[in-house]
Amino acid sequence: TPEGWEGRGTGSEERRCSSLTADRSGSTWPRAAGGPGSSGPTELSRLSHGDLYRLSVTDPDRFWGSAAADRLRWAEPFHRVRDCDLSSGRIGWFLGGKLNVSVNCLDVHVEKHPDRVALIWERDEPGTEVKVTYRELLETTCRLANALKSHGINKGDRVAIYMSVSPLAVAAMLACVRIGAVHTVVFAGFSSDALAGRIQDAGCKAVITFNEGVRGGRVIQLKAMVDAAVKTCPSVQHVFVCQRTETPAVMGERDVRLEEPAVCAPEPLDSEDLLFLLYTSGSTGKPKGVVHTQAGYLLYASLTHQYVFDYRDGDVFGCVADVGWITGHSYVVYGPLCNGATTVLFESTPVYPNPGRYWETVERLRISQFYGAPTALRLLLKYGESWVKKYDRSSLRTLGSVGEPINHEAWHWFHSVVGEGRCPLVDTWWQTETGGVCIAPRPADEGAPIVPAMAMRPFFGIQPVLMGEKGEPLSGNDITGALCISQPWPGIARSIYGDHQRFVDAYFKPYPGFYFSGDGAYRSEDGFYQITGRMDDVINVSGHRLGTAEIEDALDEHPAVPETAVIGIPHDIKGEVPFAFVVLKEDLSDDAPAVLQQLRDLVATKIAKYAVPEHFLVVTRLPKTRSGKIMRRILRKVAMETTEDLGDVSTLDDPSVVKEIIEAHEEYRKQREEEKKKK
Ligand code: WT7
Repeated sequence: TPEGWEGRGTGSEERRCSSLTADRSGSTWPRAAGGPGSSGPTELSRLSHGDLYRLSVTDPDRFWGSAAADRLRWAEPFHRVRDCDLSSGRIGWFLGGKLNVSVNCLDVHVEKHPDRVALIWERDEPGTEVKVTYRELLETTCRLANALKSHGINKGDRVAIYMSVSPLAVAAMLACVRIGAVHTVVFAGFSSDALAGRIQDAGCKAVITFNEGVRGGRVIQLKAMVDAAVKTCPSVQHVFVCQRTETPAVMGERDVRLEEPAVCAPEPLDSEDLLFLLYTSGSTGKPKGVVHTQAGYLLYASLTHQYVFDYRDGDVFGCVADVGWITGHSYVVYGPLCNGATTVLFESTPVYPNPGRYWETVERLRISQFYGAPTALRLLLKYGESWVKKYDRSSLRTLGSVGEPINHEAWHWFHSVVGEGRCPLVDTWWQTETGGVCIAPRPADEGAPIVPAMAMRPFFGIQPVLMGEKGEPLSGNDITGALCISQPWPGIARSIYGDHQRFVDAYFKPYPGFYFSGDGAYRSEDGFYQITGRMDDVINVSGHRLGTAEIEDALDEHPAVPETAVIGIPHDIKGEVPFAFVVLKEDLSDDAPAVLQQLRDLVATKIAKYAVPEHFLVVTRLPKTRSGKIMRRILRKVAMETTEDLGDVSTLDDPSVVKEIIEAHEEYRKQREEEKKKK
């Protein structure tokens, strides 16, 4: 037993009795010892990465117990590291412990280095970045927290945040956290209907938004979108409006402008109190509110942030994701702030005002870790190397990719052109449900090679298992199966909001006793993992997860459309795009172009612009089995023009439908080619 490895959070008096100092924030809790920038080496930092991994799987209680005690500040120590039963979806970590995530992300750093920059807001207009110190972020957070409190928002209440990437968005998240309210950030690219759906499902009592947002030089009417959404949301009592642009927002009765005192005492929360909900798409039905809780999520975000990206004190961490996605939660906000990092908030787009934007930002802000999505890289590499080489990238130390499979071309371009071949490039696999990175090439022992375009190694505590077609764990290497994880880890989601049964059914029923990811994976000869893609009806458009059923639901609302089927097909930049097969009422076939335009608008208003299908094919009927199930396999083959081998069609109700659809597609293809020629 390495000295001092025992979890100090477990029954330690030290934490309770250390001298308490009140600071401006009103927090009086003793400080955490571990993590980056801590005064002495912790037990974790003495072991090799290989030894840490072995310990994490052979003795998870000791590993996670020590990590939680060392890295987090507790108001009350926990008495039990974990209590989990995966088959019933019961997951609890650090039981009996009380803490506040905002204290861990702000106060502990303000005590040590109040003037360290917490956020660099890379605003839409290049060269206008704004730096926010830990002290300032704590103050703003407390102001917002007080405003929420004084308007009746309490512990456990849900609050929707509909804001573009900005310090106020981060402060809004942390303000909820400070008072124990549960935030649900809704990506500002979602429509007002999509926002309303999430507010209703979560039963939000308030919404925090901006008057307007800006992105890529365009203005987005955020407050107006919220106004439209809350019309159908009786639970909302207040809309808090912050200013992003000069234009004053039109204020109504329930709207509140923000101005409050800058000190707010943190609420001590149980480890397993809700931290946030984040809505994401499943293979069926409406988006599900993935539930994350306090201590386990924070610990996992902070540990992965440090080890996967080799984060060190003084680094400028650049994750260019939006705070509306889990990547923004874990690696723009919670992981970096818990580690006392300087984290970049990227408000703009990769091509605004030109395709050099990312690398110009890297040079200007001296970014150490650059973490982004393959879809953006695929777009940028088409513009050529000069946009990269113009700028000094010597500050970069680690490159990261996330959200979708990274193809070899993009991987090599990122690695050799952007990183000059000298920065480890980590392809990180994880999900909204996993809370943080689960499979990535790092950490690994010194000098371990990285295989291009492979996620490779499980993180501490993660035990991947590949399942065969009969539900049996596959042993051995050079094998493909359904990607499961056999033991719980602190960052795993705890439930689906309001529907625990759906949580159990989706993740723990398919392979009893295991977490099922929905992805397939390959394990190489060397035992490394490569993600092969979703096994369900979830698609990935520009790194954004979408259920094809969600798009179908939106299309089916059109009165002229009895039936639709949506599939994903590969796209060279976006990764995948939706392809819609649409059956129209017979008498409407002449109006098809008008109806299709209405369908596009419908998807944009029901979901978001990026969800609008790239292709619409009008067909007279869909291929169905005798039991009425649509055979999507056939639709995929038609859309991808690989109909030579259709596989077994004997279960089709009427096989002649296949020929019809192939012909319709052939016609569609010709039309598109002609249109292209005209352009
Ligand atoms: C799905 C999760 C992880 C944060 C952003 C997306 C796909 C994610 C990879 C990767 C191949 C990946 C999976 C996964 N995915 N990372 N490195 N290689 N596929 O989170 O929206 O919850 O989507 O994204 O299919 O299941 P999300």
